[in-house]
Amino acid sequence: MPLQDAITRYAQRVDEQLQQWLLQTTGPSPLLQEALGYSLLLGGKRMRPLLVYATGQALGAPLAACDRPAMAVELIHAYSLVHDDLPAMDDDDLRRGHPTCHKAFDEATAILVGDALQTLAFEVLADARQPAALQLVQSLAEASGSRGMVAGQMLDLQAEGRQLSLEQLEQLHNHKTGALIRAAVRMGALVSGADAATLQALDVYAAALGLAFQVQDDLLDVTGDAATLGKKTGADAQLNKATYPALLGVAGARSHAEALVERACASLEPLSGDWLLLQELARWSISRNH
Ligand code: IPE
Ligand code: IPE
Ligand code: MG
Ligand code: MG
Ligand code: MG
Repeated sequence: MPLQDAITRYAQRVDEQLQQWLLQTTGPSPLLQEALGYSLLLGGKRMRPLLVYATGQALGAPLAACDRPAMAVELIHAYSLVHDDLPAMDDDDLRRGHPTCHKAFDEATAILVGDALQTLAFEVLADARQPAALQLVQSLAEASGSRGMVAGQMLDLQAEGRQLSLEQLEQLHNHKTGALIRAAVRMGALVSGADAATLQALDVYAAALGLAFQVQDDLLDVTGDAATLGKKTGADAQLNKATYPALLGVAGARSHAEALVERACASLEPLSGDWLLLQELARWSISRNH
């Protein structure tokens, strides 16, 4: 399947599933429900669900087996964005081309939206019929919390106004963005019943891709266009964030991202299977303009 078709098809598929889940799990507060839909369903590239589906497809899993992990990782990601945009964190007004959740609603609602999206992710994964359910829950929890994304967000805030070494910056990016991308690939492999060697090789791919993805995010903050990105540009410099362009310059950051993507693609070569889509997704992650 060509890259663009896969992106459209899988993004549509996860969107439909997410929409259904939200409808099925409506609670007593219509306002909260509205804010949840606003934060989850309006735009976004769906990169992490795409990685679940592309990994599952490469390993021969039925698409239906990938649906819940695809939804769950996007739910965690959406929660992380809502909280990332809060005044206490990056204080952003625009996300996915719309006012951020705390602007469209208010701060308390945005905090609760994040809380609700996070718990919904694990509700979705806790499917007794899925043999790998426990491993999925464990993988996503570990990647999201104090050893994963949340730790990365903490390091990101602590690094504001400080000069980090390349090693420290890599650690920060690996946690705040890499962890969830690794979990997406791992969950796609787990529902496919992949063996330990395959899980390990895929993790090398996902770690390199995850880092490259955040390097490109940093680059787009410098070189991108806000209307295309759907979020503000120049925000990192304004907050004195530790970023790859700040440390290596734009050209240096770009060649670093290219080297990472080469590493990601090469790591799949020794594995048997059709890895073209995952390799194309890795290349797309640093050629994207949004
Ligand atoms: C933005 O992620 C924040 C990062 C972790 C880099 P995405 O670029 O995947 O954002 P959406 O989901 O497409 O809006
Ligand atoms: C956000 O990184 C990472 C997470 C939300 C975990 P950024 O702060 O760089 O993301 P954007 O640029 O606001 O999308
Ligand atoms: Mg941030
Ligand atoms: Mg941010
Ligand atoms: Mg950014």
